[in-house]
Amino acid sequence: MRVKLVAGNWKMNGNLASGRALLNAILPPLGTLNRARYVVCPPFPYLAAIGRALEGSNVVLGSQDLCQFGDGAYTGGVSGAMLADCGCRYAIVGHSERRGVFGETDDVVAQKYAQAVKHGLTPIFCVGETLAEREAGVTEAVVARQLDAVIQHCGLQALGQGVIAYEPVWAIGTGKTATPQQAQAVHAFIRGRIAAADRRLADLLLILYGGSVKANNAAQLFAMPDVDGGLIGGAALVTDEFVAICRAAQKAEETVKT
Ligand code: 13P
Repeated sequence: MRVKLVAGNWKMNGNLASGRALLNAILPPLGTLNRARYVVCPPFPYLAAIGRALEGSNVVLGSQDLCQFGDGAYTGGVSGAMLADCGCRYAIVGHSERRGVFGETDDVVAQKYAQAVKHGLTPIFCVGETLAEREAGVTEAVVARQLDAVIQHCGLQALGQGVIAYEPVWAIGTGKTATPQQAQAVHAFIRGRIAAADRRLADLLLILYGGSVKANNAAQLFAMPDVDGGLIGGAALVTDEFVAICRAAQKAEETVKT
C-alpha cells in the first residue's frame, strides 16, 4: 500500500529564524492531517535545530544532500552517519541542481544513494530530463540511465528502501509545471521499468513529482494513479502554499481509500 508523501526542499534559502517561523506556522495545521507523510529538508547548518523543533510533530527531517563517502578526510563533506545522528530520516540524492550546478555524475549519485541506505536514511532519489532532452525525445532514455546507475551500483532491491522523485529540470523553479498527463506518463514509465524486474517492488515504490508544484495544481497532480506525492521547492517556503499542498495529499488519500 502506497501512502502519499510531501517533502519540502528549502534549498539554500532563509535562516534559523525564518525556518523556525515557518515551522510555527505549518506544524499546527499539518498536525490535523493524519493520512499522508510529511518531510522538510532545511539547509545543513539548521538541521539539528529544525529537527528539535519538529519533535512531537508529524513532520520528519530530511537533508538536501549527503557525501558519497563515509566518515573520514573529506573536508566540507557531511556523511550519512552525521545526518542520521542529527535526526534526519530522509536524504535527497541526485537533485538536478546537484547534478547540473555541482557536476554530480550518475556514479556519484549512486554512491550517495548507497551511503544513505547504509545509514538508515531513506533516499529521495531525483531523476529528470532537461528541456533540450525532452525536445529531443530522449526523456525516457535519460530517466532510464539515471535509474540504472543506482540499480547497478546498489542492486534492484535497494530501490525499495528509497523514494523516487521525477523532477523535469525545465519545470524546476520556472512556474512551468508538467501537466498531470506528462507527469503520469513518466511516472508510469519508471514504475513499468521496475515492474519488469520486480512487480511487487514497483507496486510499493513511491514516485513523487517535483517542479513548480503549487497549491493550485497539487490536487490534479496527486490524482494521477502513479503520482505518490510531491517534492516541493519554492512553495515549501510559503506557509499557505505548503499547507494547501499537504492538504491536497491528505484529500487524495481520502479519495483513494474511502
Ligand atoms: P520548485 O517547486 O521551486 O519548482 O522546485 C522543485 C524542486 O527542485 C524540489 O526539489
